[in-house]
Amino acid sequence: MICSMDKKFKPIRIGIIGAGYVGLTTGVCFSDIGHQVLCADSDSSKLERLRQGESPFFEPGLEELLRKNVASGRLRFISDNTELVANSDVIFICVNTPPKSDGRADLRYVEQVAKEIAFALPDEYRLIVDKSTVPVHTAEKVTETIRRYRPDAKSFDVVSNPEFLREGSAIEDTMRPDRIVVGASSDRARQLMREVYQPILNQTKAELCEVSIRSAELIKHGANTLLATKISFANLIADACENVGANASEVLHGIGIDRRIGEAFLKPGIGFGGSCFPKDIAAFRHTLQTVGVSPALVTAVEEINDTAYRRFLQRIERVLWVLDGKRICVLGLSFKANTDDLRNAPSLRIIRALLKEGAVVSAYDPKARAKAQHAVPEVKYADNPYAAAEGSEAIVVCTEWDEFTQLDLPRLRKLVLMPIIFDGRNVINRASAEAAGFTYYGVGH
Ligand SMILES: NC(=O)c1ccc[n+]([C@@H]2O[C@H](COP(=O)([O-])OP(=O)(O)OC[C@H]3O[C@@H](n4cnc5c(N)ncnc54)[C@H](O)[C@@H]3O)[C@@H](O)[C@H]2O)c1
Repeated sequence: MICSMDKKFKPIRIGIIGAGYVGLTTGVCFSDIGHQVLCADSDSSKLERLRQGESPFFEPGLEELLRKNVASGRLRFISDNTELVANSDVIFICVNTPPKSDGRADLRYVEQVAKEIAFALPDEYRLIVDKSTVPVHTAEKVTETIRRYRPDAKSFDVVSNPEFLREGSAIEDTMRPDRIVVGASSDRARQLMREVYQPILNQTKAELCEVSIRSAELIKHGANTLLATKISFANLIADACENVGANASEVLHGIGIDRRIGEAFLKPGIGFGGSCFPKDIAAFRHTLQTVGVSPALVTAVEEINDTAYRRFLQRIERVLWVLDGKRICVLGLSFKANTDDLRNAPSLRIIRALLKEGAVVSAYDPKARAKAQHAVPEVKYADNPYAAAEGSEAIVVCTEWDEFTQLDLPRLRKLVLMPIIFDGRNVINRASAEAAGFTYYGVGH
């Protein structure tokens, strides 16, 4: 636990605009380390739930910390950005930056917030922190916007402080990050950012990277593109392994044990999804094009990712032949484990393709059921993997939930009509599946 017992610790009045995955986690963690936090969101139903101590999404440990800090009085939720700017010394912009149809980041929410901050700026200094993931030059645009709408604005700085948390381990990632990147152009801004993060910097091994604003913005897009590149590289190797009869797990382990490379993210599967990787690398591709750098590498990463789920579907179709009327059980819906986030989840693409071919789909996910019922109501949802698999002619695993590594495979075997597993995340042990009587298809084997 990070505590603020340090005598030199000075609580700061922090305002967070946008109480989504990033804003809410940041607000909850900042209040927990001792700061006084106001969190605003334009979604009133979300605010209502938050005031009751209820998280609008599933994230391990978040709700407990939310309740604790609301009860302590250090964390409050408000609807008015003007009130937030008046009462916060440091203002974090954490709004969504969705993709446009050509891949560019849609910055309308960032601009909207910049305008609202401009109109609300008091005479006293304010530090405005861009935490949303944005293309290079955005902080300069935010500064320009504030100056344009408030030519008389007295004293403020805009800094870039990109966020690297992962859904599913957001609290841990925020409290114990590998690095805190701060792109600033004034000593005052840098000093204030050090004070904001002081308890975390003092009590963890987090490295403070103080860089220029443009560098900070590029670090975030660069980091996500490299991680996505590792995943697509793993899928490239998996394709090669399937075609030549080698084993991708063996090959990627052999590659990844080299300390210069590392095994993290070198896992083949049905591709990356979520709210970040697809949109961030598309935005980075667009930035590269705009600044005259070839985006060929990024384009290849995107193409391989798109192929990953299609290849998986083709394999299902090759093995099952006619999909019309086939009963298929999908295990795992969220785009990755430990979250209920379905944004760009490969499971949804797979389910929609199966439904289009006439398959009858049942599904189970430990956390994403409510959101999935809304997204694909045609599916029959079950309370556990065994109920979902009953009478099915194939099981398709789409998310690497830990629970699926512990399945009682002999029990599952008795429930299904046909013992076939397509494991899109390589989470089920092949030998155990085969011992239980299943025909097992992993990715890259
Ligand atoms: N989700 C992640 O894992 C993650 C990780 C790192 C960075 N990011 C980046 O952080 C940013 C936020 O992502 P998120 O997943 O938290 O998004 P989100 O959609 O979960 O939350 C954004 C919130 O901002 C609110 N909002 C929009 N306009 C507003 C306004 N004018 N005033 C007040 N509130 C407003 C929305 O209502 C929403 O609740 C994005 O740029 C994203 O790319 C996300």
